Amino acid sequence: MSRKYDFDKKIDRYDTSSYKWDQSETLFGSRDVLPMWVADMDFQAPPEVVSDLVEKAQHGVYGYTIRTDEYYGAICNWVAARHGWRIEPDWIATSHGVVPALSILVQILSEPGDKVIVPTPVYYPFYYVTEMNDRQVLRHPLLMAEDGRYRVDYDLLERQCSDPTAKLLMLCSPHNPGGRVWTREELERIGEICLRHNVVVVSDEIHADLVFEPHKHVPFASISEEFAQHSVTCMAPSKTFNLAGLQAAYLVIANESLRRKYLYRLKAQAMHEDNYFGAAALVSAYTKGGPWLDSLLEYLQGNFAVMQQHWTAHAPEVRIIPPEGTYLVWLDCRGISPEPEALKRLMYERAKVAFNDGSSFGPEGAGFLRANIASPRAMVREGVERFAKAVRDTLG
Ligand SMILES: Cc1ncc(COP(=O)(O)O)c(C=O)c1O
Repeated sequence: MSRKYDFDKKIDRYDTSSYKWDQSETLFGSRDVLPMWVADMDFQAPPEVVSDLVEKAQHGVYGYTIRTDEYYGAICNWVAARHGWRIEPDWIATSHGVVPALSILVQILSEPGDKVIVPTPVYYPFYYVTEMNDRQVLRHPLLMAEDGRYRVDYDLLERQCSDPTAKLLMLCSPHNPGGRVWTREELERIGEICLRHNVVVVSDEIHADLVFEPHKHVPFASISEEFAQHSVTCMAPSKTFNLAGLQAAYLVIANESLRRKYLYRLKAQAMHEDNYFGAAALVSAYTKGGPWLDSLLEYLQGNFAVMQQHWTAHAPEVRIIPPEGTYLVWLDCRGISPEPEALKRLMYERAKVAFNDGSSFGPEGAGFLRANIASPRAMVREGVERFAKAVRDTLG
């Protein structure tokens, strides 16, 4: 592994207004509950990005920002190099975040009362951006195969898409939670069903860069011209480079009329301006961050191995679903308890560690937990050991 980047370095994130670190007392009853939940990383962004941002900060004038050719070029080159997808600069539209974009897409692609097909369990904002816009979630419970990998139920999808009030499919690709990296074949089958019924695919690909060999992320819209015309792709450097607080997401929309609708609504909500630091961080990360990302992926696999080895020996009741992508590990804990409340007590009170409660991703997630392993290895080890000890103390 390249030693150029020090992922072992422990950075104190307490009292930094951190969503993850500064809420343990409020949410879990004690400041010393180790937070391994919210999907950001405890690593510094690539050093090249940090130094570019420091330089930007030192300029001292933080006025309105335009999108430069460099910005569009950085995105086109990144997507081509990492995912083999050739896109045009014109297809790119911005958003402060992927979730705000999902909300706008629900508004422009459906009418109040319509249905949005959502494969579940899923990242919980998929529910609220649908329901708080007065649309209905049409849950598509994913099938869990013997090996713990989620699968799409194509017969069910066909039936759901044939409902004339189902207007869009909100796809999470790679899927969170569960860490599935949908294969080309799976995406083709999903896309063909959606096309047949004129259901637009909104593909949230925020985790696209965080994929482990031999798996390969395939952008849904890259599969065919028809798929590109019937979909919107949401991407961002935020998960990949730990830039979530800078809010620099973007959309790729090849279909011109869809793109116009999106841009119109974005402006109507006066959300079309860019953040001075966000756009700069994106350019810096996409042009200089590749080697850092390759090292990160190796490091994350090492962290996963630590978890797997320790729990195989000391907490075999936890069934670990190896992630194909994302730094979020899906844990089937039904062998400990199928009850979310019991698992929460085990985490917060006994183990003093906070993974995500799986039921927050939908009822299919009850009895599961989701652990974020994007932290220095010593911290991951600590969390893993605390949890195993609590399991042993509880089950004997
Ligand atoms: C699937 C998925 N989409 C979107 C987001 C967040 O996107 P943003 O912060 O850009 O709104 C997350 C964060 O965990 C996620 O897992």
